[in-house]
Amino acid sequence: MVSFLFAFLAAFPCVYSLVTPRQGVDFFNPTLNGGSMLDDAGNGLGEPLNVIISGLSSPDVLTESGFENYAKAIGFSTECLGIHLGGPQSANLGDGNGSVNQTVELRQDYGDATVGTCLESLIGGNHLRLYIQNGPEHDTGALFLAVSKEEDAEEDHTIVPDGYDIGRDQLSAAAEGTTSFGGVTYSTEAINMTGLLPAGSAGVNHDIATDGITTLLTVTIVQ
Ligand SMILES: *[C@@H]1O[C@H](CO)[C@@H](O)[C@H](O)[C@H]1NC(C)=O
Ligand SMILES: *[C@@H]1O[C@H](CO)[C@@H](O)[C@H](O)[C@H]1NC(C)=O
Ligand SMILES: *[C@@H]1O[C@H](CO)[C@@H](O)[C@H](O)[C@H]1NC(C)=O
Repeated sequence: MVSFLFAFLAAFPCVYSLVTPRQGVDFFNPTLNGGSMLDDAGNGLGEPLNVIISGLSSPDVLTESGFENYAKAIGFSTECLGIHLGGPQSANLGDGNGSVNQTVELRQDYGDATVGTCLESLIGGNHLRLYIQNGPEHDTGALFLAVSKEEDAEEDHTIVPDGYDIGRDQLSAAAEGTTSFGGVTYSTEAINMTGLLPAGSAGVNHDIATDGITTLLTVTIVQ
């Protein structure tokens, strides 16, 4: 029976992967397996992956659609009417997938999940790119976010001075505690981590220095 089961699972690897549990960790440090805590802006520089949503969060938060609902609960939404400004960036999370394009890009929605992001596109505001750590070598499920506060459209969506740290802290402050959207209520705990990203501006796009802090959010769906 056991050998039959084994043969069955070996013959249907996708069935097997459906029942493989996540790794039960917050995240895996990308730099330990050829990855980086900076994404790749395509010019040899990158944006800091300055917020991580823990792989120990409720599984329904750790999917693209689940994350988008959570993002709406904390003041972000999909880009203005699907209009996308700027090219995608990529990241290597050290999970065995190598370098992959961002999964989605979201903008601050100014209190209106439908058209608010259009306002952000015009007047600037907070902005994030999402990368999911789900490759075959370190399938933690953790979500890595590159968060930054942007100038308005006339400034061509460059980052405001200190915009990485400001963006991270604004997102975390909006996320902490109890939030809800679309009938889902979330409880979020935040802790700051150092030592993943170096402080300073080495390799950082737009030459904007950071304090080197990455904030870890653990998000639990409470109802
Ligand atoms: C990443 O995005 C770029 C620009 O849209 C595209 O040319 C490239 O094929 C994408 N790469 C992957 C692996 O999807
Ligand atoms: C990463 O790898 C996993 C498992 O092989 C795959 O399901 C997923 O689509 C990959 N992610 C990307 C962005 O290619
Ligand atoms: C993380 O550090 C930033 C910058 O010092 C601070 O503003 C924020 O409150 C800290 N967050 C937590 C959860 O400690």
